[in-house]
Amino acid sequence: MADQVPVITIDGPSGSGKGTVSQLVADHLGWQMLDSGALYRLVGYAASSTDADFGNENEISEIASNLKVDFDAGRILLAGADVTDLIRTETAGNNASKVAAMPAVRAALLDWQRDYARSPGLVADGRDMGTTVFPTAGVKFFLTASAEERAQRRYKQLKEKGLPANLAALTAEIEERDARDRSRTASPLVPAADAIEIDSTVLGIDEVVRIVLQKAHDVYATAL
Ligand code: DC
Repeated sequence: MADQVPVITIDGPSGSGKGTVSQLVADHLGWQMLDSGALYRLVGYAASSTDADFGNENEISEIASNLKVDFDAGRILLAGADVTDLIRTETAGNNASKVAAMPAVRAALLDWQRDYARSPGLVADGRDMGTTVFPTAGVKFFLTASAEERAQRRYKQLKEKGLPANLAALTAEIEERDARDRSRTASPLVPAADAIEIDSTVLGIDEVVRIVLQKAHDVYATAL
């Protein structure tokens, strides 16, 4: 069924602009949006807040299978508690990256993610949307940006949310997290063979959105 729903996958490393681009594209089309990183962040947050053992994959995947999450008017509730901002800290990002390296956790989140493919269409943002979760998607993009640019963007985002931020530490953390995401064996961060790669450092977000919408129109003309 999911195969019949139009899907646009937008993968890439942290701070490449994929979250912003995905949201703008989904808003423009009136499609669902899957922020798959939020799911890994929720697992990492739930694990750390219950003092789970990050070395025990079974324990962490049990947590992933039993998460009680509600997405409510832009807020994210975990077992009824609002964790929208708590899962966006750098610590939460690093915990997310750790649990994301566990195959059993990725397996536990697979059906949940695929379930987002509903009419009229889905824009899926992540690392392995085009390779693993939605391999048959008709439109696939892989966004990159220089490490400096990505750290600057994250810095600005955190400051805007009133969260603590340090540019040098952010650059180091982004590079460390990317290295882990790229080198893991379970669904590593790599472009799908049929993904269009775009460097958003040069183009800027608006131009990237325009390119994605153009491609979506070419492929899914009847659905738009
Ligand atoms: O996009 P993000 O920064 O919110 O993602 C948080 C972490 O989750 C990131 O380090 C990698 C991981 N992740 C993943 O492994 N697969 C996805 N589809 C999305 C995120």
